[in-house]
Amino acid sequence: MPDRLQFGLIGSGSQGRFLSEALRMTDKADLVACADPNEEATQRAIEQCGYRQGYDSAEEMLDQVDLDAVIVATIHDQLQPMALAAVNAGKHVFVEKPMALNAADGRELVAAARQADVRLMVGYTLRFMPERILMKKLLDEGAIGDISHASAGQCIGFGSDHWLNDPKHGGGPLFYIGSHAIDNALWMIGREPTRVFADVYWPDERHAEAGVDAVISFAGGLSLHACASYRSGCSYGWLDVIGTEGRMRSEWQSNKLYIESRKIAAYNQPTELAVPPQPYIPALPGAAAASVVAFRYLPMWVAEMHEFTSAITEGRDASVSGADGVRFLEVADAIFASGRSGEPAQV
Ligand SMILES: NC(=O)c1ccc[n+]([C@@H]2O[C@H](COP(=O)([O-])OP(=O)(O)OC[C@H]3O[C@@H](n4cnc5c(N)ncnc54)[C@H](O)[C@@H]3O)[C@@H](O)[C@H]2O)c1
Repeated sequence: MPDRLQFGLIGSGSQGRFLSEALRMTDKADLVACADPNEEATQRAIEQCGYRQGYDSAEEMLDQVDLDAVIVATIHDQLQPMALAAVNAGKHVFVEKPMALNAADGRELVAAARQADVRLMVGYTLRFMPERILMKKLLDEGAIGDISHASAGQCIGFGSDHWLNDPKHGGGPLFYIGSHAIDNALWMIGREPTRVFADVYWPDERHAEAGVDAVISFAGGLSLHACASYRSGCSYGWLDVIGTEGRMRSEWQSNKLYIESRKIAAYNQPTELAVPPQPYIPALPGAAAASVVAFRYLPMWVAEMHEFTSAITEGRDASVSGADGVRFLEVADAIFASGRSGEPAQV
């Protein structure tokens, strides 16, 4: 494995560029080429992130440039086809969430990555939020006993005729933001979901759903209430976990973490935990100069890129794997099936 990985980008829109700047900060990769049918996006990625060459087709880039790995950050309906093309060209792939539009396509991608013996990581950034990492650690240490209930949601206000509202492109809050909430909850719970009962609000046929509420059941009487919405007056996400010995709550975007525990004397009363980023995610270089506007997320994106490049050089699965991507998609399939039928759906 060479010292520095040769990277390409498929989908040079805002997230593709954010991730590229984060990748550059790991100092483990050369940003070689980017591709996007939108010429302006390609040009911006060259100027902002330092890619050396731009292509209007990912296939052409994969064919012509010698790359070790690619980031795929396209519109949702192009994530799986582009990631599959890259995997089949023998590249390691970091693909943004939701990875595919259904579990069958997700499984096809995971199988292709296994066949090609390349790493496949999915962009569930909130797994790199220091508060969520500490929450998972405390849960695994038994700080609140056995989990009996959980609640997770991700809500923003979003109403335009953007592709993120277009069902043809895999728009809608479930894929765009709810995927983060459900992925994080499944990670915390660590059990296989079995059944879903969902209420999905489709405002009209031209637009994707505007809101989802679902009860996701697990064996042993544990249930997760999940919510995703484009109809919120603020950007708000939460992850509540109730256990036999207490509870924890983590909030986005305030990034607060609360705990109450009968087992730990210091937390017998509801307590807000101070969570310094270190030692949970790598420090940013001192003069971390990025043109990234959403600078507050940059440390998490750097941590994601650090994990992806480490998985490649160490020849191991990334901590957020293609199998995790499929697990969310299986739940999403069941949410849409239940929302349409009005009946519970098996996962
Ligand atoms: N994890 C996170 O923190 C986070 C945050 C925001 C967005 N995202 C995800 O990133 C992805 C991109 O979102 P965005 O906000 O950058 O959208 P965007 O609209 O800014 O960019 C998407 C780009 O994909 C390009 N594209 C479409 N088809 C393509 C193809 N076949 N090949 C190459 N490029 C193609 C478009 O031209 C566009 O430039 C989505 O999956 C989104 O959910 C993740």
